Amino acid sequence: MSSQPVRVERDGELALIVVHNPPVNTITADVRAGLREALEKIRAARDIRAVILRCEGSTFFSGADIGEFSGPPREVEYRLLFNDLEALGVPVVAAMHGTVMGGGLEIALACHYRIAAPTTRFALPEVTLGIIPGAGGTQRLPRLIGAERALEFILSAKPVGTEQAKELGFLDQVIEGDLATGARDYARSLLTQGKGPRRTGEMKVDPATASPEMFERQTAQARKLYPNRTAGLTAVDAVRKAVTATLAEGLEYETALANDRKASVESRGAIHVFFAERDSRRVPGIGDETRALPIKSAGIVGAGTMGGGIAICFANAGIPVTLLDSNPASLERGIANIAGIYQSMVDRGRLTAAESEQRRGLIRTSLDYGDLKDADVIVEAVFESMDLKRTVFAKLDAVAKPGAVLATNTSTLDIEAIAEATSRPGDVIGMHFFSPANVMPLLEVVRTTRTTPVAIKTVMELAKPLRKTPVLAKVCYGFVGNRMMEGYAREAQRIVLEGATPRQVDSALEDWGMAMGILAVFDMAGVDVGVNVHRANASQYPPDPSYYQADVALYDAGRMGQKNGKGYYRYEAGKRARIDDPEAIAILNRKSVDLQIAPRAHSSQEIQERCLFPLLNEGFRILGEGIVLRAADIDVVWTSGYGFPRYRGGPMFYAETIGLETLLNGMHRYRDIFGPMHWEPAPLLVELVTKKLTIADWETRKQARP
Ligand SMILES: NC(=O)c1ccc[n+]([C@@H]2O[C@H](COP(=O)([O-])OP(=O)(O)OC[C@H]3O[C@@H](n4cnc5c(N)ncnc54)[C@H](O)[C@@H]3O)[C@@H](O)[C@H]2O)c1
Repeated sequence: MSSQPVRVERDGELALIVVHNPPVNTITADVRAGLREALEKIRAARDIRAVILRCEGSTFFSGADIGEFSGPPREVEYRLLFNDLEALGVPVVAAMHGTVMGGGLEIALACHYRIAAPTTRFALPEVTLGIIPGAGGTQRLPRLIGAERALEFILSAKPVGTEQAKELGFLDQVIEGDLATGARDYARSLLTQGKGPRRTGEMKVDPATASPEMFERQTAQARKLYPNRTAGLTAVDAVRKAVTATLAEGLEYETALANDRKASVESRGAIHVFFAERDSRRVPGIGDETRALPIKSAGIVGAGTMGGGIAICFANAGIPVTLLDSNPASLERGIANIAGIYQSMVDRGRLTAAESEQRRGLIRTSLDYGDLKDADVIVEAVFESMDLKRTVFAKLDAVAKPGAVLATNTSTLDIEAIAEATSRPGDVIGMHFFSPANVMPLLEVVRTTRTTPVAIKTVMELAKPLRKTPVLAKVCYGFVGNRMMEGYAREAQRIVLEGATPRQVDSALEDWGMAMGILAVFDMAGVDVGVNVHRANASQYPPDPSYYQADVALYDAGRMGQKNGKGYYRYEAGKRARIDDPEAIAILNRKSVDLQIAPRAHSSQEIQERCLFPLLNEGFRILGEGIVLRAADIDVVWTSGYGFPRYRGGPMFYAETIGLETLLNGMHRYRDIFGPMHWEPAPLLVELVTKKLTIADWETRKQARP
């Protein structure tokens, strides 16, 4: 195979531009250079009557090179290249397969005809990254399919299949069988029919699809789908231009808008998270010489909420798993829950009945620890009790094969102490899944001081087939996510005791961008769950009589959240809609009288700052203590596990966008009002502000130190 990613092949009167740029045919600088050369060759040849553009490997172009986003703008280069392609004097056919995203679809729009293999998926996901389709998408797509459909497609950002693509009108034909052969037949049939170039850029947007009302509707939709963000609105603006402008004018306008968007916080934040998720798997100091153990089978101890979800993750990855419980009834309940989850996936069309059957078949049940003897990894998910977990680990030590990774899903217990219950503490590690474990992408991987590099690497790599985003942390109370949650939720609870309503608090947090207000989260998870954790771990928390007392007030009044229809809100049977409940508010008010908490009026800004500043501040403590490898890992934890908005880049990225000094001043301001117990700034935050360093500066200096 030539090292050039683009080559031109000939088949009689046809020229084939064939791209080979594994793994996913990203449109890198090399590919663009290759395409330019290919076009030159084609222009120079006199005997070419049609051109086919296709890619080898798993997919047609999967998109632009996101790595280039932070560098100099490339829009003009893309524009000229795609224009040259469109300008060819013979018909050009894009022959697509795989996942055609962003720039990959935009290049196809600049071709004259588009055909695809039946399973091809298409999307313009740019607005979710805070940008707009900037390589002609906003100008060519409305010319092809009308302004309204183009905007619906761009704003939804969701992939569509070939049937929908044909219906929308940007796909001409689905090719069954071999795509390369089908593409040649298709190109020749164009020639037989006397069809020439059909340039998208020469079409006009159908005015019937571009009424002022339509633009108003789509503007409202952009606001609704992307609150606090402007990329959706910018896309509407760009498509509006396509209605009246020539292609050349429209493309220039699009370029200006695209570059402006790339500089925005919403785009930088989303792209930061994109790369942070890719990088979180890398563990400096554990190199290629350390080999991950192959995981051919797994064991899970505890068939409850978490154990069942984790078993599904393994089965979905094709790894046979033995699910063990000490209690036959719990095991039966666990397996019934698993069956229910698979059934709902079938009902929603996510799996076929046969696939569900096959995956369920990978989950065996057992009451006997001896059945775990062949497992390469065992995940413990029994009740949260140190004594119990130590007993379980001693049993695992007795039966597990040498070298098997022994993982615990504990949220609060000291994994060092759990490891000490075995004769092989080096093999013990935390695998902290989030509920529901089969859905939530985050996996906190927690190493003790004795966990071996092999165990760490094995689990970090196992995350991939399990479809998890792993973040490596050291042992500390609450690890990364829950430790930062502590101050965030503490303030939310304190604020309702000061007289704000639950809705006021949750709305302020949701308006800011959190996926769900934290009090509604408590109702969903169970008010009792939080109360029990705080009771069991009282020694870990500061001596504040009002600490998490809103939870306690509701718990004492029998309000457990959604599960019994009342918590911070009221719920109608079987529904999740939150209803304001004067009874809950009265209970909270009585509690604040008992605790002699002075009432206070709260602006949304105060609610947001009081919840978020302690969260960010704790992030600086965690970073300063070396609990995580890098600041961006904290961003991954919060965006993938706690509903922190990706467009704000995660807590650490966000702290820098508001300014570290603003955060420090905020901590001081609230310390003056509420006292030092909860408002002491993290030493690292103070250091960075004093030395005028960014987080990146500090990380670079830290790496340079021996
Ligand atoms: N529920 C969550 O949201 C969540 C999230 C992250 C981590 N965790 C942690 O996961 C663990 C499990 O939590 P859960 O919510 O799934 O609990 P659960 O109560 O739903 O299930 C625990 C299961 O363990 C079984 N069990 C008890 N003793 C056993 C033994 N000796 N051998 C085998 N099985 C035994 C029980 O029969 C039960 O089925 C806890 O450590 C918890 O802190 C829970």
